[in-house]
Amino acid sequence: MGRSTPTTSPSASTERFVTLPYDGRVTKRYLVRTFGCQMNEHDSERIAGLLEADGMEPATDAEHADVIVLNTCCIRENADNKLYGTLGHLKSLKDRNPDLEIMVGGCLAQKDRELIAERAPHVDVVFGTHNVGRAATLLAESRLHGQQVEIVEAGELADYEAFPSALPIRREVDHSAWVVIQIGCDNSCAFCIVPAVRGPEVSRPFEALVAEVEQLAAQGVTEVTLLGQNVNSYGRDLARDARRAGEQVALAPRFAELLRAVGAVEGIRRVRYTSPHPKDLRPETITAMAETEAVCEHLHLPLQSGSDSILAAMHRGYTAERYLERLAAARSRIADLAVTTDIIVGFPGETDEDFEATLEVAAAADYDSAYTFIYSPRPGTEAAELADRFVDHEVAVARMERLRAVVERSSLRHNQARIGRVEEVLVEGPSKKNPDVLTGRTRQNKLVHFAAAPIRRGSYALVTVTDAGLSSLRGELLEVTAPARHRTRIPVATA
Ligand code: SAH
Ligand code: SF4
Ligand code: F3S
Repeated sequence: MGRSTPTTSPSASTERFVTLPYDGRVTKRYLVRTFGCQMNEHDSERIAGLLEADGMEPATDAEHADVIVLNTCCIRENADNKLYGTLGHLKSLKDRNPDLEIMVGGCLAQKDRELIAERAPHVDVVFGTHNVGRAATLLAESRLHGQQVEIVEAGELADYEAFPSALPIRREVDHSAWVVIQIGCDNSCAFCIVPAVRGPEVSRPFEALVAEVEQLAAQGVTEVTLLGQNVNSYGRDLARDARRAGEQVALAPRFAELLRAVGAVEGIRRVRYTSPHPKDLRPETITAMAETEAVCEHLHLPLQSGSDSILAAMHRGYTAERYLERLAAARSRIADLAVTTDIIVGFPGETDEDFEATLEVAAAADYDSAYTFIYSPRPGTEAAELADRFVDHEVAVARMERLRAVVERSSLRHNQARIGRVEEVLVEGPSKKNPDVLTGRTRQNKLVHFAAAPIRRGSYALVTVTDAGLSSLRGELLEVTAPARHRTRIPVATA
């Protein structure tokens, strides 16, 4: 592979990275595959942004990519299996195309670093959750010096590594954006690997967040989703640091204030957030949701279990009763609130009675939908040590099916109750399965399919709901209420 100068004209951004050796092809193509949560997807947007700032273009599929980035997750066991399966497939691709470069980032990379490098020597770069900002540089270094493994331990972070939002971002969607408000997590839920791979909780400065949302709105973004592992505690660490520096500030979180400030930004029509921790869901957050028009009527409130003894073993910090009380408070203040959740079945020691309690609470909570998971031991977490109390897989599967039936009953009822109503949807574009159908999302985060019409994605439209299934609604278009405001991205032509 000979080294030659870049053939694209140097712009400010390419100049910063001119050290990349090119192999003679005009433009390299990259593909980023995301395995994890929204935080992970947002990191993928940053990785893509960095590679594009380096002169690369997106590839349509793995066969046509010169650089493939796998952005991994390790929340459950099958995430590992998926990664190694994909790496096996990429090995045969690389055997056919030795110039293919493979990078593995994200939470599993943070956790298993050397193991991945050893098990998959065909991987060129392994980088951690705090090294996203160095993705392009590490790729360049691997070309010169061979395989690179770079992981920064949380707690050793420079500010720019903690909040690399100043980096270029290639957002997947132009009209809707994720905004990371805090990284890491200070909780210690017994089942969860996130604090180990994402580090302690650090909030981004309030003013910087509002400025970022203003900037997004100026680019035509109308919907933002605030992201954090425990958004309700946003700002508590900032107040603690300010106190230590001698400032007289209240030690309270500032999430409610942030919701109001972001909701007040001109041009922002919808504000969403995920995830709030039930133990920290404060009345002022509910009030801010109720009083801020832009904040959508949707609350994702992870239950995890309906059994008090399991909740205590998980260290969740609330009882089922407390959870339901908070939910009732939210529903009483916010009209037409859709509620979704996460539930784990088969946590170590979960008895039939514990599980029955989960079924009861799930029925009482009357969810619009739920993500349900079978407990998966994560080495290094407290619950993984409880091997003598693990629940048989078949038992967990049977419980999961019963839970799904309970959730599906309330999902269908909630969806059917919307038939005949007029809903405003944010148009997401043609349906993946059928190009003759457009898909939109209501404020309650429900998908609505309706007959295709010449409407740009990112527009808002009114639809009459005509039919409802378990996971989506059908509707008929009434009128466009607000056309999309963002500029359409024009692909850069290359020689
Ligand atoms: N910070 C978020 C959760 C992030 S992880 C919160 O506290 O709400 C997303 C979901 O994955 C969790 O809510 C939990 O239901 C599930 N999960 C996490 N660890 C798991 C494990 N070891 N086994 C099964 N499900 C798990
Ligand atoms: Fe994991 Fe609990 Fe933190 Fe959520 S709050 S990321 S479940 S430790
Ligand atoms: Fe998200 Fe998975 Fe990491 S759920 S924070 S990508 S472990």
